[in-house]
Amino acid sequence: MGPDRTTSSAAPDMAEVVCLVTGAASGIGAASAVRLSAAGAIVVCADLDEAGARHIAEKLVAGGGIAEGIALDVADENSVAGAVDQVVARCGRLDVAVNSAGITAPPRTGIVETTANQWRSVLDVNLTGVFLCMRSEIAAMSRDGGGAIVNLASVLGLVGRAEQAAYVASKHGVIGLTRAAAIECADRKIRVNAVCPGYIETPMIDQMPSEGRALITARHPVRRLGTAEEVAEVVAFLASDRAQFVTGAQYAVDGGYTAM
Ligand code: NAI
Repeated sequence: MGPDRTTSSAAPDMAEVVCLVTGAASGIGAASAVRLSAAGAIVVCADLDEAGARHIAEKLVAGGGIAEGIALDVADENSVAGAVDQVVARCGRLDVAVNSAGITAPPRTGIVETTANQWRSVLDVNLTGVFLCMRSEIAAMSRDGGGAIVNLASVLGLVGRAEQAAYVASKHGVIGLTRAAAIECADRKIRVNAVCPGYIETPMIDQMPSEGRALITARHPVRRLGTAEEVAEVVAFLASDRAQFVTGAQYAVDGGYTAM
């Protein structure tokens, strides 16, 4: 049985803060929604998997939180603009956005074997998706006096890896986008940061064959993979006023992966 993602012992330091979490139906997005809700936030859970997003929101409400699940395709300009409009219309404003929606590239695909369509689909979701979300989120936050954005990059936004070129490029792009937005938005009181997880136990890595998993685990000095809750803890910190002086940063949450 997996960890219970609907409870957390967080202090309620984000009471009534309006948060949008993309990719909230699963993994790190779901754990972030739980963590923010436990801190008192109003959480809009958004995902391509609308039923999954609603399911997480229902669990948050059952736990005493205020939450809603909505459909969102981060790669679709109109869907993104509509989702952010929906949040502002229903909740009055947008204070925090966690951009967690993402996909992996097909495993063990070298650059020569990568088709243009495979390349585009990874970049469309992981990089253009973050751009489209940030564009609407920043516009909404600018109207309401500021906010905080947390983008899910990866250790593969900090270092390379063979046979993962599209994913690596997309995550390096997320870090560049985070830095550019942080500088551009600082005077609007919008902080923009990236979290760079190592390999985390979520459905995203479930397909990994066991020998690959053993090799990846050994690559982390702590000799285990991370949990979505461990990443969500750093997401919640960066989203909160406790991180007032933190912007344009990349936080590795990687069990030492990038220390080697
Ligand atoms: P996951 O596969 O558990 O969840 C991803 C969620 O994104 C799913 O609910 C999926 O429906 C949603 N999604 C996919 N395409 C979408 C789209 N076009 N529009 C809206 N939603 C969409 O993945 P996980 O592990 O939670 O990953 C979250 C983020 O963290 C991703 O950006 C991923 O690249 C990043 N990350 C994950 C790591 C891991 O080892 N699990 C390591 C480093 C980074």
